[in-house]
Amino acid sequence: MRLELSVFVCLLASHANAGGFIGYGIPMYRPPCAHGCKSAVTAPLNCTVHDAHGDEHMVVKRMGGMGAGSNQDLPSGDGWMVIPPTPECKATNDYYLQTVAYCISSQCTSVPLGELESFWAREVLAAKPERQPELKTYSRTLSDVVEPPTQILNNSLFLNYTGKVLPDAWLANYNTLSNFAATETTHSRYGLVVFLTGALIPIGLSFLRFLPWPTEWVSKFNAYVIDSPLFGSQHTAPIRGLAMMPTRGQGLFIGYIWAINVILSSVGYEVVWPHLWFATKPLLVESYISNRVGILSFANLPLLVLYAGRNNILLWLTNWSHSTFLLLHRWIAFICMLQAVLHSVMYLHIYASFPGYDHATESQLPYWYWGIVGTLAVAIIVPLSIQPIRQRSYEFFLSSHILLSILALVGCYLHIYYRYSRRWGYENWLHFAVAFWVFDRLVRLARWARKGIKRAYITDIDDDYFRLDIPGVTAPGHVYLHFPSLSTWRFWENHPFSVAGFVRDPDEVSHTPDVGTESKGPSKIYESAVAGSLQTSEVEVESHTGTIGHGLGITIFVRRHEGITSQLCTKRQGIPVLVEGSYDKATTFLQDGHVSPSHSYPNLICIAGGVGITGVLPALSHFKDLSTKAVGSRKLYWGVRTMPLVHAVEKTLGFASASASETERRWADIEVTLSVCQRLDLKRIIESELSVHSGGTTVVVCGPPGMADDVRCIVSGFSRHGGPERYVPVKLIVESFSW
Ligand SMILES: *[C@@H]1O[C@H](CO)[C@@H](O)[C@H](O)[C@H]1NC(C)=O
Ligand SMILES: *[C@@H]1O[C@H](CO)[C@@H](O)[C@H](O)[C@H]1NC(C)=O
Ligand SMILES: *[C@@H]1O[C@H](CO)[C@@H](O)[C@H](O)[C@H]1NC(C)=O
Repeated sequence: MRLELSVFVCLLASHANAGGFIGYGIPMYRPPCAHGCKSAVTAPLNCTVHDAHGDEHMVVKRMGGMGAGSNQDLPSGDGWMVIPPTPECKATNDYYLQTVAYCISSQCTSVPLGELESFWAREVLAAKPERQPELKTYSRTLSDVVEPPTQILNNSLFLNYTGKVLPDAWLANYNTLSNFAATETTHSRYGLVVFLTGALIPIGLSFLRFLPWPTEWVSKFNAYVIDSPLFGSQHTAPIRGLAMMPTRGQGLFIGYIWAINVILSSVGYEVVWPHLWFATKPLLVESYISNRVGILSFANLPLLVLYAGRNNILLWLTNWSHSTFLLLHRWIAFICMLQAVLHSVMYLHIYASFPGYDHATESQLPYWYWGIVGTLAVAIIVPLSIQPIRQRSYEFFLSSHILLSILALVGCYLHIYYRYSRRWGYENWLHFAVAFWVFDRLVRLARWARKGIKRAYITDIDDDYFRLDIPGVTAPGHVYLHFPSLSTWRFWENHPFSVAGFVRDPDEVSHTPDVGTESKGPSKIYESAVAGSLQTSEVEVESHTGTIGHGLGITIFVRRHEGITSQLCTKRQGIPVLVEGSYDKATTFLQDGHVSPSHSYPNLICIAGGVGITGVLPALSHFKDLSTKAVGSRKLYWGVRTMPLVHAVEKTLGFASASASETERRWADIEVTLSVCQRLDLKRIIESELSVHSGGTTVVVCGPPGMADDVRCIVSGFSRHGGPERYVPVKLIVESFSW
């Protein structure tokens, strides 16, 4: 196993000698007329013992096969032997060379000589690269054929003459090879279609929103086609705790992924008959289908790795969320697994049931058992990644996921390597997958290496929440935290958190300055998301930097959970932390940034549950600059279990929380409605707000999955069916990180 792993690493490190895919950068059986001649000549040759043993394994195997089929005794003598041809022997045997050359000259009349010469050097003399200068070129060989051969080539006889390849024999080989090559080219083409459309369609669809669509259309379109759950009313909250229901928009793309994979697995097979490599048509068809799904499975690998990355180009070029890509990652992984299993099962069937195929021998070969390893690894990953396991034992999920993914890639790589030695470029799909993965990891590393090791300080808020302060860090966007001292042997573990603030020492909190007296500087606040479930979202608020001094940093509000967050609570002292971040919402100008007011959407309603407050704060702060006149309205509805969290957040924001229990508050010009220990009546709130607004409204929600789903359904329902008398455009933004 260690050896195999080092083989794997060396193979990856040494650069690939095949650039491209079959038909796209890697020619297969070109020119086919010449390949037809080459493969038509298989008669035994008189070889020197040296050449015969050039590839001992091959000789023994072929002789065994030959001996069984024909009962002629092949002669041998001192230093020579007549054997079925080996590549070494072919390169120096004049009869063989002349037979092939004459065939080529009569069949490939329209192929340029240069191409034939390079075919000759590459395919006919290939076995002796070091001796090629002394070997005969195609033209030289052809000039040795003084008169057209008359003896018809008979492949069961010893080739001690220059044979004439009959047109029928050539044609059968030509058809076989060009059909196989055409089929392989189709496999590559379909693989490329699956991969490229999977990567490019999200980008293309994201660009569509830059076109000048009427606001009403966009709002209706989102309500009907994009935002609602595909079926039922749940999206963020998993159905029965098992799986996530996609939204309609996600459902459309998942439908596309299924359709393209099913269609491209089923069409484009071209069958010529007779086919010299396959004894029966069912065998041929089964082999072709099996190869096709094998390639499609490979083509899906880089795509699913790409979708999974935290740092991936698709996130930067689209306005699709990481949650969406993770959902797609799971669907593609499932399809990829099905294809891999289908590929393996079909080959198993072929070797177990067709005459001439021997499962017992084949299964001894490394390519066979590494294929099994790869298939088993992907087949095990999928059930180990279901929602309940991700949720309940995240640590187990993560470590098994990483180990099995590596095993799957190694298995696939060695499967291809032992079978084809990187000749046909199948391994390039794996190179892509590894490249996307390494890229993500390197950027992660760079992100936390830039911040270095910091200390995190924990302050209790109440029984449900605590606050985590990490001084000396600026990180707009959510962050992933690694706590090396909590889990030394699981150093790779890290968890997404949001919310941040600026005060380090809890005592300093009580010195919160009065509103408006300090110079205001933007600071970042994040809301926490814990390994198990929650939402990760980012918040930016106006903060008071004046009094805080060296304690400036980020603050994270964390809801207590089992797992790593409960371990955190036991450490009252600062603990070392690596901050991987920041993952801001709009890393590139192509992503959707924070919500800000526009003439079509002047109003804002924010709905938050618990620590979800921090997910909606950036929207609130961005809406601040619009106008001093009340052009649009800004409201916040916040459901909390207990008041201490409210006070803690207000302190962090710099608002005095004088009226301890009042549920109607004002934060600057924002109307805040609290709902302590009771559910917000979301339907009533949203519908009454929307029906009084003039102009469009942006609804931002960040809270527990159930709340996010309720708001999603209410808003898109309202948007579909409109207000009582007039149409109100609504834009829905769900700030949640669900996986
Ligand atoms: C095979 O080639 C050797 C010389 O390389 C020659 O001595 C021998 O007679 C040949 N055998 C036959 C059967 O032609
Ligand atoms: C090839 O030679 C074998 C053995 O002499 C003979 O039985 C067979 O008919 C020949 N085939 C052709 C196509 O001439
Ligand atoms: C070729 O070999 C066969 C035996 O395999 C023999 O009968 C025949 O005479 C040989 N022909 C020549 C030209 O050496």
